[in-house]
Amino acid sequence: MRKAIGKASAEKIRSWLEHINQYNSTPEFGTTRVLFTDPEIKARAYVKDEMQQLGMEVHEDAVGNIFGIYRGLEAEASPVWTGSHIDTVLNAGMFDGMSGVVAGLEVVRLLREAGIRPKRSLAVVVYTSEEPTRFRLGCLGSRALAGRLAATEAAALYDAEGRSLYEVLEQLGFPVQDFDKVAKKKGEVFAAVELHIDQNGVLEQAGQTVGIVKTICAPTVLEIEVKGKQSHAGGTNMQDRHDAYMAACEISLQAEKLGRESASEYTTVTVGKMEIVPNAVNVIPGKVVFSVDIRDADYQAKNGLADKLKEAAARIGRQRGVAVAVREVNNDHPMPCAGSIREIIETKCKKLGVSYMQTISGAFHDSMLVGEFAPVAMIFVPSHGGISHSPQEWTDFAEIAAGTDVLAATLLELAEQ
Ligand code: HGY
Ligand code: MN
Ligand code: MN
Repeated sequence: MRKAIGKASAEKIRSWLEHINQYNSTPEFGTTRVLFTDPEIKARAYVKDEMQQLGMEVHEDAVGNIFGIYRGLEAEASPVWTGSHIDTVLNAGMFDGMSGVVAGLEVVRLLREAGIRPKRSLAVVVYTSEEPTRFRLGCLGSRALAGRLAATEAAALYDAEGRSLYEVLEQLGFPVQDFDKVAKKKGEVFAAVELHIDQNGVLEQAGQTVGIVKTICAPTVLEIEVKGKQSHAGGTNMQDRHDAYMAACEISLQAEKLGRESASEYTTVTVGKMEIVPNAVNVIPGKVVFSVDIRDADYQAKNGLADKLKEAAARIGRQRGVAVAVREVNNDHPMPCAGSIREIIETKCKKLGVSYMQTISGAFHDSMLVGEFAPVAMIFVPSHGGISHSPQEWTDFAEIAAGTDVLAATLLELAEQ
């Protein structure tokens, strides 16, 4: 009779998360671990070492995705994946992404402790650069796995220092010649389940421990450049201005209005980044470049909103006598989660006595892209106060442990199919 799998350890989860959190370039204010900076490289090395300690085979692909493999009994059976990311936005918390990686490590620790070798191998994946922090495009590792990021595109993705993703990978010694071989075909991965914090407070407000995600919303990111007439703040009367900043504000408020009035199941619109030139107290801005991040559960609705915003931006430009250029940085597809896996998760929650609810993810995740080649599902655990992408981000280690118990049971069932 096979030994039953044990309960996840909140203490072990805390220890891993706190250790990873030490790799941080802004200890004075939250956590910052940007792709391929020193803290992130050190965090990668630590996670790989922990994988080896757990008896996992470890390898990285040409884009830097890390795979920790816990071998199953049938080597030719397609594997089950879990995992998430360890890179962060600027001044973030310690749970976004890292919870899913650590939960995967804990599942393997529990399997080993129970001496369980499932039919299918289990891979814990650390996806490269889920956050757009360095290269302004998110999910780079999972995007490449989905065949949606070619080497030529990686060579045209630049960071603030003008270095491309491709050259950074090359300089770090990754086999960039294999970049275009990273993509997975449908069927190569049996299923992928990601544990993540919910980043929206829904679970906490409902008093539920686990969220079973129905759909992963996807982003459209627009970069809008407004060129007006730089001039003297005191010498230029109000009628004669072509103020790039005020035009940007009017476009931003229009974006917010479109988001608020959306009939879709889930829509958000955010202006998060703005560059003002020359950015001086007594000068009317001549140029503004700003981002608009549109999220929706419905691809058509998202495109409709983006089109309306582009029309409004052009109209505002004409009315204010400024030039408006809109560049689409990316337009990703919302990802429905696999009903069959969602049912397994629900069954495991009931069996384990873990409270749960169905939910939707306003945030995007690597599973949004992994779902293009494998059935995916996500297990959310609560973000206290709905806060994320902030030093105040918090999830109890016991809540992550409870989610990990559900993850372990789900992965084990999938790995035996
Ligand atoms: O922005 C997002 O939705 C994700 O947290 N990177
Ligand atoms: Mn994030
Ligand atoms: Mn995340």
